[in-house]
Amino acid sequence: MKSWVQSHLNVGLVVGVLLVVLTYLVVSEQAASGRIRVVTTVAQWIVDKQVNEGSSETVAIPEAEQIVDKQLIRVPSETEKPTTTTKVLCSTDERLSDYCELEGDIRIRGRSWSVDIVPSTWSERHEWKIQPYSRRTATHVDKVNVTQLQGPPSSAPACTVTYTKPAIIFALGGYSGNIFHDHADVLLPLFYLSRRYAGEVQLLVINRVQPWWLGKYALALTRMSKYDVVNLDGDTHVRCFRHVTVGLRLHKDFGIIPDQVPGGVHLAMPDFTRFLREAYTLPRDAAASLAKEPNKKPRMMMIQRQPYRRFVNEKEIVAAAEAAGFEVVVTELHLDAAVEEKARLVNSFDAILGLHGAGMTNEVFLPPGGVLIQVVPWGNIDLMARVEYGEPATEMGLKYFCYNITVQESSLLEEYGPDDPVITDPESVHRRGWMALYNIYLTKQNVRLDIARFSLTLKEAMDHFRQRQ
Ligand SMILES: *[C@@H]1O[C@H](CO)[C@@H](O)[C@H](O)[C@H]1NC(C)=O
Ligand SMILES: *[C@@H]1O[C@H](CO)[C@@H](O)[C@H](O)[C@H]1NC(C)=O
Repeated sequence: MKSWVQSHLNVGLVVGVLLVVLTYLVVSEQAASGRIRVVTTVAQWIVDKQVNEGSSETVAIPEAEQIVDKQLIRVPSETEKPTTTTKVLCSTDERLSDYCELEGDIRIRGRSWSVDIVPSTWSERHEWKIQPYSRRTATHVDKVNVTQLQGPPSSAPACTVTYTKPAIIFALGGYSGNIFHDHADVLLPLFYLSRRYAGEVQLLVINRVQPWWLGKYALALTRMSKYDVVNLDGDTHVRCFRHVTVGLRLHKDFGIIPDQVPGGVHLAMPDFTRFLREAYTLPRDAAASLAKEPNKKPRMMMIQRQPYRRFVNEKEIVAAAEAAGFEVVVTELHLDAAVEEKARLVNSFDAILGLHGAGMTNEVFLPPGGVLIQVVPWGNIDLMARVEYGEPATEMGLKYFCYNITVQESSLLEEYGPDDPVITDPESVHRRGWMALYNIYLTKQNVRLDIARFSLTLKEAMDHFRQRQ
């Protein structure tokens, strides 16, 4: 199956789009406003697709191919003692992330963002530049130099702190600060990478731009590691470990591939959402079941955005959802609210209804068996909507409904007229590049749901709660 990106992009456009996105990211850093941050979500997604898939035939890179390009080096130890084994596995060619899994005499110099592998016997020097933010395409993140020193060791920096527990090095910045990326790019991979250690792991962070981030997600982080996160920026120590993971390997845009979880731990998305419910002490772990409680009304959270990409006929939509049997609350989720507060609020609902956007990430706090209704605006953006939120919802154990609007439900019809390519040929807008796509379809579009048509989706969603045991 060809994605739209593959079918419609050529290299020239990719470069053009990249430049635009890079410019945008600079702007977003300067503006430091929540709204522009959202831009980077979809920008990032598209960049990923273009950079990583645009030139290849298939979306999935076969596993065999990935392994050929990885460099697996085993340095034989002088004795059979396991502590003298050196294992180095670094990958810089997967679709999304760079990472290394290192075992041996590993010395980290935070101040210079370098990780040295000190071999116990003679070995050649090897070097990898690892993007420590989980999406390789993120800009403004310094790469970590992972170097296998030429052995036997002589010039290796002397350890000033020695640990017996393993370490995970990751970076913030990049696209973090946006709720989707906070979960997809940082918390989820940290969760599945740290799980095997049951808290006995040292997290080391490169975080020059978002000092508040660790505080915001402290409740989740303290459940992954019993130890305070060490900030590597300007760290003057030489910290020594036997086992270090550099970078967070993403399995997919937002998800877990159980076979790729290290340490033989079986994890899937329901484990991640359970983890979040424990971290934020969310009370509900099962959505409403009308089979059990026939008189209960499932609670629906309708997410409204500001100032664009809104539901114009909010009152009618609420009335229709109530007529279908839901209790409806309209919310505008504030970016600055404490995560645990937002999580508790969302967890009190059984369903989320919203227009495609980062707000859909709140699905992670819904009780299992709940419903996500994602309304996909005009402009052939259903692929994005599905990959970022639809498939993850299903994997979390939610029931997912996608409602593609018709052009009559879009404010763009009136704005551009029925003959404009914006209406008749969304692909032509995609070909004009990211900014056009973003400005037209993802920013200024409001939606007036066709109540009769949308009622069918509401009914299906209600049937789900009726049938749930
Ligand atoms: C990382 O490696 C590059 C090239 O190999 C080098 O120029 C740079 O100075 C190194 N950085 C550090 C901090 O060692
Ligand atoms: C929404 O549109 C996409 C692409 O046109 C299609 O694959 C998908 O099945 C549609 N979903 C629904 C629920 O109509």
